[in-house]
Amino acid sequence: MLKGRNLICLLDFDRWDLQRLLDVSFSMKEKVLTNLVPKSLDGKRIVLLFEKPSTRTRISSELAVSMLGGSPIVIGKNDIQISRGEPIEDTARVLGRMVHGIGARVLKHETLLKLSEYSGRPVVNLLSDLSHPLQALTDFMTIKEIFGTLEKPIAFVGDGGDNVLVSLMAFVAKFGLELKVASPKDMRPRPDIWKRIEEEAESSGAIIEFYEDPYEAVRGASVVYTDVWVSMGQEGEAQKRREVLSTYRVTEDLMRYTSSDSIFMHCLPAVRGEEVEQGVIDGKKSRVWDQAENRLYTAMSAFSLIF
Ligand code: CP
Ligand code: NVA
Repeated sequence: MLKGRNLICLLDFDRWDLQRLLDVSFSMKEKVLTNLVPKSLDGKRIVLLFEKPSTRTRISSELAVSMLGGSPIVIGKNDIQISRGEPIEDTARVLGRMVHGIGARVLKHETLLKLSEYSGRPVVNLLSDLSHPLQALTDFMTIKEIFGTLEKPIAFVGDGGDNVLVSLMAFVAKFGLELKVASPKDMRPRPDIWKRIEEEAESSGAIIEFYEDPYEAVRGASVVYTDVWVSMGQEGEAQKRREVLSTYRVTEDLMRYTSSDSIFMHCLPAVRGEEVEQGVIDGKKSRVWDQAENRLYTAMSAFSLIF
């Protein structure tokens, strides 16, 4: 049962809940394409709070609420009194009195937990410094759509502690899949979350391995995934990160070592010439626009099931 729960971290759900989120994403896609979207959020008021910029998440989440018949209230952090120092706890208490659910993109993951605790309303994570669950659901929906199965070896090239990667890892761990990460050795997920991922992987039989050599990690991979070298909130370390990650770029040459059926994925936005060469992201193997489109259907699925 998903109704009324928080969707803050994929690890909080069992495999069958995640499968349900994927199944409903596929059925939402079909319903959108046939103009038969259910009004499952009829009468529901949903706040969508953004402390950081967004294109895909902002548009897909507002559309998801309104297409499902609910009322989305989209706010940036400068629109409300948080910007003048009102505590998040007080903001959450007010939201709890006025709305049925909260989606939030936050600078600090802990803000999501406070929003939940003090509002008493279900909270969906629209990206934090730690994770990006709706992105991972979209990515596995896209993988299933392309290959007909989730069971394809994945390689991630870049920051081993990246928020999008953490959610991919959580999903892989729940489903017993295979993920090889090419990353500098001091870039790893936060220890507390990594411990949970490792425990899940052990019980499901998932393989999650770290490599320093990107060529070793991508050998035989069917999916090659990367994300920006400098995430939102990391601007202060931009130069250092660019230096450390300079050899973790998805190039056309690197793609030659992958499986013959391989695809390239990126959550976007991308920086061409940094984490990925233009010839790859704009090339034949790229599926980034399918991913971007599927963000709408996973948002509709998550919101209809949770709110
Ligand atoms: N992938 C993703 O979350 O994109 P936005 O930052 O544009 O929402
Ligand atoms: N890692 C990126 C993902 C953006 C969708 C960031 O946090 O900026």
